[in-house]
Amino acid sequence: MKLLNHIVWVPVLLASVGLIVESPEDETPLTPIAGTRASCKDCHKVYFDEWKQSLHARSWTDPIYQAAIKRRKRKESCYSCHVPDSVVARAPKKPKARSGDFHSGITCESCHRVGDKIGGPFGAKTTAHESVQHEYYGGKSSTLCLSCHNTNVGPVRALGKSFAATKKAKSGRTCQHCHMPDLERPIANDPQTGKPEGKERKARSHLILGPSDPKFVAKAFALRVEGPKDGKATLFLENKAGHRIPSLKIRQFQVRFTVTAEDGRELWSKSRLLEGGRRNFLEAESSLDQEVSLPEGWKTMRVTVNHLLDGKDLGPVFQAKKERE
Ligand code: HEC
Ligand code: HEC
Ligand code: HEC
Ligand code: HEC
Ligand code: HEC
Repeated sequence: MKLLNHIVWVPVLLASVGLIVESPEDETPLTPIAGTRASCKDCHKVYFDEWKQSLHARSWTDPIYQAAIKRRKRKESCYSCHVPDSVVARAPKKPKARSGDFHSGITCESCHRVGDKIGGPFGAKTTAHESVQHEYYGGKSSTLCLSCHNTNVGPVRALGKSFAATKKAKSGRTCQHCHMPDLERPIANDPQTGKPEGKERKARSHLILGPSDPKFVAKAFALRVEGPKDGKATLFLENKAGHRIPSLKIRQFQVRFTVTAEDGRELWSKSRLLEGGRRNFLEAESSLDQEVSLPEGWKTMRVTVNHLLDGKDLGPVFQAKKERE
């Protein structure tokens, strides 16, 4: 433990004597991320394993991002949120880019470094590192997320305004409520034995699920049907996400409404496209409405949503139906 302790803080000491300060005006010079990331991993194995699966861990290596920056003259303008230094240091503004270790993407330190301390929801005392409680953690603020998710840049459309206008946001919900579900668990482990250390705490998943998980995307949709009445019905594909969907310009949801007969024959269909970007997206708390005149012999009204990313069809993510009674 002593030794690790030492490893964690050596870079901080160097920083404080000015050896690895990235630029003179940098208020919070960070430790070399590669060195310390290995350390976070040793004592927070569960967190590391979750983070590794998230898109945040791949924000640099992501082939779609790599292809996009190759096409840019000034690629450096695309670095700040994809290979960030401390986010808290600049929030609510976008972070500054790091000068190295791009392959680690958005690291533990990007989100947890508060000056020369580790920011978290508790401010718990530990010999491992100095921890400080900060308002950005604990599920009461979306600011940390919005530092990167609230700017129109490249293919990205800001989510903040859309979310802020919702009932959920007004009642105090934050991004974490959906994207980092609650769980109870010990938050650290002994670096040597791997055994959990400390009591169970109210914690949050670091998988930070999003549209790359088909089961998660399904939560964005619900089907409501009005009718049938006088041979007509209206299908409402409702947006249950916390914000407009989709938001990435290169993401599309191909929606298909159908009516079929008892034997499965398709009697009627209508396709509609939801797109990121400026038009054709579905605003938070709203729905895509489709009227249908029900053909003779109809049995089932159905909606299917396919997820398309960068022109590729990733398959169906949502299906729902209503049968004739
Ligand atoms: C202000 C922060 C910020 C900056 C600066 C930024 N990005 Fe991003 N980028 C994001 C966020 C946030 C996402 C995820 C958005 C989403 O999934 O809806 C993202 C996602 C992407 C994706 C999609 C990756 C995928 O596989 O889903 C591409 C491509 C991309 N950015 C390219 C760029 C390019 C090109 C630039 C420079 C012009 C750039 N980014 C600058 C924040 C930023
Ligand atoms: C030597 C082991 C060790 C290392 C290395 C380590 N931690 Fe910790 N960390 C702990 C322990 C132990 C706790 C307190 C657990 C408790 O009280 O439940 C903790 C607590 C935390 C907390 C909660 C802070 C709060 O609000 O109280 C965060 C966040 C955290 N660590 C992040 C990190 C990050 C990021 C790194 C890498 C830069 C890191 N830790 C490196 C052992 C370590
Ligand atoms: C995209 C930002 C982000 C990244 C990257 C990130 N965290 Fe966190 N982390 C958070 C937020 C936000 C919270 C507070 C959760 C809440 O709202 O209660 C948190 C909380 C924690 C806690 C306190 C216990 C808990 O679950 O609330 C620990 C420990 C922790 N993170 C460790 C890590 C480690 C280790 C890594 C890297 C493997 C990491 N985090 C990467 C945003 C991040
Ligand atoms: C340092 C900037 C930054 C911060 C802080 C940040 N993100 Fe991200 N986020 C990104 C980028 C960049 C991507 C896209 C990565 C890629 O594919 O290139 C992304 C992707 C995502 C995705 C899409 C995941 C998927 O599976 O498709 C979700 C959801 C997300 N972030 C939610 C959050 C939440 C919630 C928080 C706050 C706890 C947060 N982000 C904090 C930059 C950030
Ligand atoms: C009520 C639950 C909920 C809340 C609250 C919520 N989200 Fe989402 N989010 C979702 C669902 C479901 C999806 C999948 C739909 C999609 O990909 O558009 C999603 C998708 C995303 C995506 C990918 C969007 C795209 O189309 O590329 C990002 C990025 C994201 N959320 C970030 C955030 C941020 C940042 C916040 C807080 C400001 C937030 N979310 C609040 C449920 C939620």
